Amino acid sequence: MNNEKLAPENFKVLISEARIQQRLRELGAEISRDFQDSKPIMIGILNGGFIFLADLIRHIETDLEIDFMRISSYGNHKESTGHVKVLKPLSADINGRDVIVVEDIVDSGLSLQFLEKLLSAFRPNRLKFATLLHKPSKTRVPVRLDYVGFEVEDKYVVGYGLDEEQLKRNLRQIYVVNE
Ligand code: IMP
Repeated sequence: MNNEKLAPENFKVLISEARIQQRLRELGAEISRDFQDSKPIMIGILNGGFIFLADLIRHIETDLEIDFMRISSYGNHKESTGHVKVLKPLSADINGRDVIVVEDIVDSGLSLQFLEKLLSAFRPNRLKFATLLHKPSKTRVPVRLDYVGFEVEDKYVVGYGLDEEQLKRNLRQIYVVNE
């Protein structure tokens, strides 16, 4: 299946499907080593993190559970407002459990900072953070990232779960949007 015709002219491929899948194999191996015998709960952050979570867990060789949370900080804007709201809370009980939060992208870091505070209050045994993409030059609060797919420049990116006004999440590669 190739749906690349959904990418208009101003989208330039930043990370190809092959590079994404290769990196997921590496991250999956690392997580498998770090969580042998622990049955972690992996929490996908909706909406952007769903494809990353789905592909990543299939490279992990340990039993695990999944759950999802939905938070919003952007509304329909491209810059973080800093006001994070929980739109769908966690279902699982993470008290005493090993938890890996799975984000699509860390930009300002405000969403992650909010999640760390919120989830640590449940007293998990270990709380780790995985993100497919990180924009270090935009991050304005201290964040602790345990697993990072790729560091990217300060450009708006779409595809592989990441949206442009709610569309383009189904593209198989990651693109930079040229204005
Ligand atoms: P932060 O709170 O500023 O770190 O923003 C994190 C959230 O903003 C991510 O989970 C994405 O949903 C969204 N976001 C930030 N940068 C981009 C981007 O370049 N493309 C698509 N979504 C983005």
